[in-house]
Amino acid sequence: MTILVTGGAGFIGSNFIRYVLANSASHIVNLDSLTYAGNLENLSDVEQNPRYTFVHGSIQNKEFIEHICLVHGVTGIINFAAESHVDRSILSAGAFIDTNVQGTLVLLEVAKKLHEKGQLTRYVQVSTDEVYGSLGAEGAFTEETPLAPNSPYSASKASADMLVRAFVHTHDLPALTTRCSNNYGPYQFPEKLIPLMIANAIDDKPLPVYGDGMNVRDWIYVEDHCAAVWAVFERGRDGEIYNAGGASEKPNIEVVKTLLQTLNKPESLIKYVTDRPGHDRRYAIDFTKISDELGWKPRYSFAEGLQKTVEWYVANKEWLEHVRSGAYLAYYEQQYGRSK
Ligand code: NAD
Ligand code: DAU
Repeated sequence: MTILVTGGAGFIGSNFIRYVLANSASHIVNLDSLTYAGNLENLSDVEQNPRYTFVHGSIQNKEFIEHICLVHGVTGIINFAAESHVDRSILSAGAFIDTNVQGTLVLLEVAKKLHEKGQLTRYVQVSTDEVYGSLGAEGAFTEETPLAPNSPYSASKASADMLVRAFVHTHDLPALTTRCSNNYGPYQFPEKLIPLMIANAIDDKPLPVYGDGMNVRDWIYVEDHCAAVWAVFERGRDGEIYNAGGASEKPNIEVVKTLLQTLNKPESLIKYVTDRPGHDRRYAIDFTKISDELGWKPRYSFAEGLQKTVEWYVANKEWLEHVRSGAYLAYYEQQYGRSK
């Protein structure tokens, strides 16, 4: 099987490629446009693997994707490529529509064509629990929870999910959707809460906590999310949606304090700052469906996952320095030219 993984140079995509190469005999073609969030250093340990190929390109380029799928004999597509950061979508939403909506449409059109030719058997859209909106103190998102996205990012992801639904319904495309909660782990870009707080704490810089710090997220170790996407790709039912979560609901301030304790840094580094506009209060995931149907459940507790994550960032300060300085982007400019 040859799988086109899009966005594979990002945080979850790179962990997913490593997971699939280790746990299956599949070939992976990683198509990534290398935005600020794409980093080939995330995959330096697999780049010589004969079952792995990197291709520089955008999911918005239909002719190019068709060409890649034909040349490599792609039989499945898993779409991780996205603009993924909520704060950036609040500042400027255009790129989120271009990549997350238009890009997904391009992939679905290519998948449809390949499926009609009998070449492609599976398309998986990696979506997010944020499409369901925000919860009060009680309850959890199920796959039946109505979509109510609140940020431009989540609105773009929900729009993509609607396109997937339409291609399933109208064209019988064997497409599936995953909706996962907040990931953390190695290779996460230090703009997201956990890697940002680790990086700042290591440097003794202030840790900016939005609002009252009591917004709740359900944290999942990235390897558990990768296992969920792989289970859905391999054994999920066509057209279905599967939620995945870490069974680890925590208020942000608790996460930040635990990180400081783990790094042996003082709580005086915490700085409460102005809240994110439209900040969703609480996410929680009911993952009964994927557990009952596919036998998936998260393996890592929050304590285990966080310990491994902190150890990884401490042991990989060079990676962090390259990302924070933007040194890896200069390399791409020279090597590939900047996309978009
Ligand atoms: P990321 O920002 O770390 O990586 C995104 C990757 O997509 C980068 O490598 C980037 O270069 C690439 N990309 C962006 N635009 C592209 C384009 N037009 N063509 C090709 N590649 C492009 O994101 P992530 O955190 O790894 O998230 C991956 C996916 O998982 C996203 O779809 C996101 O919505 C979803 N998701 C993320 C989380 C989370 O907690 N991070 C949780 C649930 C779902
Ligand atoms: O729920 C899944 C989603 O999780 C994914 O779809 C997104 O791609 C991913 O970015 C993430 O979205 P969040 O907005 O929840 O993640 P973020 O790491 O940006 O923020 C987590 C929480 O921490 C949120 O309540 C905002 C808060 N926060 C974040 C940052 C960056 C702070 O308090 N301070 C910060 O500096």
